[in-house]
Amino acid sequence: MTGQLRHMLRDDDISHDEQKTILKLGLAFQKNRFLARPFEGPQGVSIIFDKPSTRTRASFSTGVAELGGYPLVIDKNGSQLGRGEPVADTTRVLTRMTSALVWRTFGQDRVEEMARYATVPVINALTDDFHPCQVLADFLTLAQHKGGVDALEGMTIAYVGDAANNMSHSYLLAGAVAGMHVRVAGPQGFLPRPDIVADAERIAAENGGSILVTTDPYEAVKDADCIFTDTWVSMGEEAQYELRSKPFWKYQVNDELMAAAKPDALFQHCLPAYRGKEVTASVIDGPQSVVWDEAENRLHAQKALLTWLIAQQRGDMSLLAG
Ligand code: CP
Ligand code: NVA
Repeated sequence: MTGQLRHMLRDDDISHDEQKTILKLGLAFQKNRFLARPFEGPQGVSIIFDKPSTRTRASFSTGVAELGGYPLVIDKNGSQLGRGEPVADTTRVLTRMTSALVWRTFGQDRVEEMARYATVPVINALTDDFHPCQVLADFLTLAQHKGGVDALEGMTIAYVGDAANNMSHSYLLAGAVAGMHVRVAGPQGFLPRPDIVADAERIAAENGGSILVTTDPYEAVKDADCIFTDTWVSMGEEAQYELRSKPFWKYQVNDELMAAAKPDALFQHCLPAYRGKEVTASVIDGPQSVVWDEAENRLHAQKALLTWLIAQQRGDMSLLAG
């Protein structure tokens, strides 16, 4: 088979079947961390941060090492990108030296520009618009606790809170790809971008799922198998802290809201979490919360994604055999 260069810039860059393949590989990595070693030599992987990170930094660094590669972690302030070197120039250099490019940055246009100049796979490690690696880990957590990857199709998930942020957008797209019923609730003025909702509706229809966007958190969580939330103040929005807290109180995930979902519903949060704000301690530290499995699954999901992208590029599906 001829190789094909693929990127993961937004959640709908992969098809329904491809998402399932990656998640099944993620479950296999959960059972055996040294299942596959796509990087030989070791080959380097560039992991670049224009915003802070704990989980993404730890999971990509550890994951690349476990896959046989060398994680080259570059922080904005320690690189020429931070002094204004064009994205295209940085990319043209790193793509000649390393085997994949992972980037956490601000605008989605920046990762798209990187992908145009890269000759190796580019992975979005969070932009203002999407966080596809996180949602792969979240769906892996659902598969782990709710009957495997095939059980995702037809599930109902609810995201409540800042519905205009990257996590909301990624749940809409990734859930649509999975064939889920995705419910998103947030206050007026903090609802998802209409073009992303339209994409999600089209993709959901292809896969037997559906999309609901509402300002009513109780409408969103009805019959949900999992409730997700996220901070009300994303990275880069710190100056809006006061402005952003007030409209969201109605969307706090507390015991009352959890009780309105299915009795066996899970709770997930990408972290970092702010107890007493978007979620109460009773929920995030309670029996329905699976946030620590979710955080660990960043490692397994991203190793699966990297292995899949390298297999695509080489046209060597035997890498996925594990
Ligand atoms: N969830 C997540 O991406 O965490 P970090 O910001 O710590 O990487
Ligand atoms: N929406 C959050 C996610 C953090 C992982 C942010 O962008 O800061």
